[in-house]
Amino acid sequence: MKKTVKDIDVDNKRVLVRVDFNVPLKGGRVADDTRIRASLPTINFLRKHNARVILISHLGRPKGLEKNLCMDPVADRLSGLLEAPVMKLDDCAGPDVESRLAGLKPGEVAVLENSRFFPGEKQNDPKWAENLARLADIYVNDAFGTIHRAHASTAGVAAYLPAVAGLLVESELKQLSRLINNPEHPFVIILGGVKVSDKVGVISRFLGFADVILVGGAMCFCFLKAEGVDTGASKVEEEAVGAAAAALEKAKGSKCRILLPADLVVAGRFDAAAETMVVAADRIPSGWMGLDIGPATVTAFTAEIGAAHTIFWNGPMGAFEMEPFAAGTRAVAEAVASAGALTVTGGGDTVAAVNQFGVAGLIDHVSTGGGAAMEFLEGKELPGISVLADK
Ligand code: 3PG
Repeated sequence: MKKTVKDIDVDNKRVLVRVDFNVPLKGGRVADDTRIRASLPTINFLRKHNARVILISHLGRPKGLEKNLCMDPVADRLSGLLEAPVMKLDDCAGPDVESRLAGLKPGEVAVLENSRFFPGEKQNDPKWAENLARLADIYVNDAFGTIHRAHASTAGVAAYLPAVAGLLVESELKQLSRLINNPEHPFVIILGGVKVSDKVGVISRFLGFADVILVGGAMCFCFLKAEGVDTGASKVEEEAVGAAAAALEKAKGSKCRILLPADLVVAGRFDAAAETMVVAADRIPSGWMGLDIGPATVTAFTAEIGAAHTIFWNGPMGAFEMEPFAAGTRAVAEAVASAGALTVTGGGDTVAAVNQFGVAGLIDHVSTGGGAAMEFLEGKELPGISVLADK
């Protein structure tokens, strides 16, 4: 058990909180603020106990400074949710930041700039981590979605400050533990979405405890390709095909089945107005791309979901943000929501999907972490957790 903000004295202290405010943006505004809301309990607890709250997060995967990934819209939305002003800084560390933060009063909140604008973040550079630590007296990690990254703001900084968990991290660990402590079977894992190369490697380890793994979304094309299928113009992360082949091979000798789509909705281009058709998954016409699972796959997948006693879902089944390609993700969302099982979903896109289809309230736990929840499930020690003080 890790110490949390409730186990330490934060009165009048400068508290650096790593949050995961990596939220979708649309037209320069926050399109889904679930992850911001998820850290409000920690932020409000600290404010109520007179801490000076300094928030740091990444946003997207910028290569250096990218204006459209500045934290300003996030700080604006946070200010609206808190109904209080939020001090937005244009940097993360250094004398200017230190002097502005000196004006932050107990109960007030500041948001630093996107941590990934600075190379020291992903390199987990000790010097940069030490510069971050100079801003605060205490470090809190509340960024569950990024807890699997060993970066300066998620792990490195803890070497220089007393470090505890935020309330979101505490609650995520408690909820997700239900999946690994004697889960009821059948245990069905549903995987899809992008960031395929991040996720494919962990599938092999799921074979040890899951009964069925349903694969849709962009991820399925690595598996189809590994099986020798011509995937046409579908999005394939080539570097993940080898890991997909290894998982399929390993599944043969395990009790777990990996189910791939039998059919797909394909289109000639990535466009809501494009002509579409349903084809067998091994008959994608040349130049066409798969953008959703097809109706036969929906029937097969929802039957597995209906029979499950434990379900973990990460990653949409297709480009659900465009109506012609939303049916597969909608059907899976509705099946998960109505399943008589312990249901957990994780990941930014999956959160957006269950919100879009109005079923978030019917799911036992909607995790803010995608890759993080998967690595937790895999049984890995997560870098952002291991640096925190034990109770
Ligand atoms: C996420 O969206 O999964 C987290 O914010 C982590 O982002 P990353 O995969 O770019 O590290």
